[in-house]
Amino acid sequence: MTLHQHVPLPSRRIAVLASGSGTNLQALLDATARGTLEAEVAVVVSDRADAGALRRAASAGVATVSLPLGDRHNPVVREAYDRRLADVLHAFEPDLIVLAGWMLILTSGFLDRFPGRIVNVHPALLPDGGGVEVLTSHGRLPALRGSRVVRDALRQRLPATGATVHYVTTAVDSGPVILREEVPILPDDDEVRLHERIKSVEHRLLPRAVALALAACSASNVER
Ligand code: GRF
Repeated sequence: MTLHQHVPLPSRRIAVLASGSGTNLQALLDATARGTLEAEVAVVVSDRADAGALRRAASAGVATVSLPLGDRHNPVVREAYDRRLADVLHAFEPDLIVLAGWMLILTSGFLDRFPGRIVNVHPALLPDGGGVEVLTSHGRLPALRGSRVVRDALRQRLPATGATVHYVTTAVDSGPVILREEVPILPDDDEVRLHERIKSVEHRLLPRAVALALAACSASNVER
């Protein structure tokens, strides 16, 4: 007779960086609570003390760190901030770092500390390989990058936009895509309405993309 012993796998640990209301964080918290994402959110860090994301984390019993940034335009301050942020995250031993509405561009010094282990959710469609256009059901459309892409999609009168979860590299909004999904732009859309529809897609994509990224970390046996 063979004895099958069930050895539980150590829980995968996610660190979430969020500057805003934290609805994407909530999607991750809900997915971990439901068990559809086999991981735990170990810590949530925000550069804004009043971020809704910190309140959501605290309500879920997750550790929170508020790390306000001084003069973001001063490169010395900026690099020192990212060193501190990396040290804080390192202490929580994350398998994966998720940028869920993180409004600061991370320095290369930070990215070097967590190679291949940072993912971002972006409220527009991004192409594979960092090109200037992305293939959609409406043909090729411009790839929108930066922090105002919902507005840009409306201003450019695009027929569609979307949501993308991708790895973070030094080229902003250009790292390898994990998942993306198109969102049609409707005739009566304004920025708020369109962003809400994009976010509801993000909330579905992000937990799935995080699961895929965690599986890829395990497969490549990337050390914490
Ligand atoms: C999301 O649309 C995300 O794509 C963008 O910032 C927004 C954050 O929303 N980077 P929330 O704070 O998760 O509600």
